[in-house]
Amino acid sequence: MIRAHEHMNSQAIRQKFLAFFKERGHTIVPSSSLIPDDPSVLLTTAGMQQFKPYFTGELDPMEYFKDKDGNPTRNTVSIQKSFRTSDIDEVGDESHLTFFEMLGNFSFGGYFKEKAIEYGHEFITKEMGLSIDYVSVFEGDSEIPADAESEKIWKLLGVKDIRKFGRKDNFWGPTGAEGPCGPTTEIYVNSALRQAQGKPPVEVWNIVFNEYYQRKDKKLEKLKTPGVDTGMGLERLAMVVQNKPTIFETDLFVDIAPDGLPTNMDVRFKRIMLDHARAVAFLIADGVRPSNKDQGYILRRLVRRMMAHFHRAARGSFSTGDVLGMDFIDIERLLVAAVSKYGDFYENLKKETMLLVFREENERFRRAINNGVRELKKVDEVDAKQAFKLFESYGLTYEILKDFAGDKAKNLNRQDFDSEFAKHQEISRAGQEKKFGGHGLILDTGELKAGNEEELKKVLRLHTATHLLQQALREVLGKEVGQRGSDITAERTRFDFSFPRKVTLEEIKKVEEIVNQKIKEDLPVNFVELPKAEAEKVGALYFFKEKYPEKVKVYFVGKTLETAWSKEFCGGPHVKRTGEVGKFRISKEEAVGSGVRRIRGVVE
Ligand code: ALA
Repeated sequence: MIRAHEHMNSQAIRQKFLAFFKERGHTIVPSSSLIPDDPSVLLTTAGMQQFKPYFTGELDPMEYFKDKDGNPTRNTVSIQKSFRTSDIDEVGDESHLTFFEMLGNFSFGGYFKEKAIEYGHEFITKEMGLSIDYVSVFEGDSEIPADAESEKIWKLLGVKDIRKFGRKDNFWGPTGAEGPCGPTTEIYVNSALRQAQGKPPVEVWNIVFNEYYQRKDKKLEKLKTPGVDTGMGLERLAMVVQNKPTIFETDLFVDIAPDGLPTNMDVRFKRIMLDHARAVAFLIADGVRPSNKDQGYILRRLVRRMMAHFHRAARGSFSTGDVLGMDFIDIERLLVAAVSKYGDFYENLKKETMLLVFREENERFRRAINNGVRELKKVDEVDAKQAFKLFESYGLTYEILKDFAGDKAKNLNRQDFDSEFAKHQEISRAGQEKKFGGHGLILDTGELKAGNEEELKKVLRLHTATHLLQQALREVLGKEVGQRGSDITAERTRFDFSFPRKVTLEEIKKVEEIVNQKIKEDLPVNFVELPKAEAEKVGALYFFKEKYPEKVKVYFVGKTLETAWSKEFCGGPHVKRTGEVGKFRISKEEAVGSGVRRIRGVVE
């Protein structure tokens, strides 16, 4: 018998989820970027990341969020783009992914266990029409007590099978070096079809009770106000709702390749292609570009692996085939299909940008790969050193070697390869240190440069000071002041702006006074992500020379975006409050070309 829910597509599930929580006093918050604000994490791995300051009490949710009736609320709901590199080697099986969408509801000191569990139960059983197979709760250990309360709530709701597990399974967080974390309760569900095939129930929903803050030294502290953080993978939910055997039969993937993939490609590789197509599209949309570093390196590996697989499926074996004729039209078709499948919900997915980036990387890879294959034929065994050389010189990534080099790479493992990679990065960092006068860089956005933690702190203070400076200049000199460039090191900020004459000493004093006044007021510094047109509408300043993506971050100084004193398009990072900036002083004012002035400023 087909149940009505089996026809519910992923978009309908998203809308149901948001509407359910909006109806129950939550604000809908858009997904934040895959590139997080927290420099200690490479990519966004969970919905709670953008809400960390509300969990810790640094920001008051009541000042930022309103429910559907316009009243302040402590509760939010989101669908967050997420990316987990930890699962990259598992992709290709029935359930692992790199990119996925996480549905989540959150409360920062609003409701707690009872409501969170009731919401979860109601949504799964009533809205999705599923029955809960079993749930799990935290069993307790020497440091943290067992979660008897959750167990009781589940019992009252009629759930019979309640399993208890320890830290490994039922405790979550933090993301990054420190942050909120706590015991969890998890909901397990199965589809009729999977059950008939003897497949086990899957965990669909993880409900975290953030009661603790894990410090950098791994010590747990009680949070002042406990919070709720939940995460449910859309792909798994769609799988059970749509009664499919694996996530790859849901509309989320079927619609990307409606005509199927090459028939001679094995099922594991088809899944890899589908996973990577989405991941590549979303990474590019959030501004990642292929490189040998950080997020760019992840993107590069995904793109190259896709190309190598298509080549093999289309032209036969990797080691004998005509690699020059690599056929990438089909990959482009996949990527374009991913953009159109997801573009309605995630507006920054743009076909043109994605194809441009993809084609460039494809060209680079094509040039190198023939030589790489020739080289690979010459070696008898690919060890970590050899593998790294093949990557560095010919662009053959670890994954490609594992997939294609067959027996030659059977002893190659990721750990050895990664340590070879790390060694190399250290060497190149040493090279950088030379270039930057004895300082390696831990932050380099082009505009901001810092070599160590201490410099980083100073750079963040100067960065915020630069925003204050621009606004103060506009107040004193008028609206014709517009940014023409900026460069910030741990020593000073250098800000270039349009203005037709020398700035007088008096005007400089006035500007300094305003900046220092704003510092004294200790205003919060925050950002929101908005579509570009909307960001322009709220009056955020932007640098005309820069090319901005469709969705931009607007950093604002003040309690709310509406009342903020300064608003700028900016990628961050900044200090949390203006008070941290210290005392600001302008050290120099001069001309740099016609109609452009340059100010250097320092903080003490
Ligand atoms: N933050 C939790 C998770 O990612 C909900 O599973």
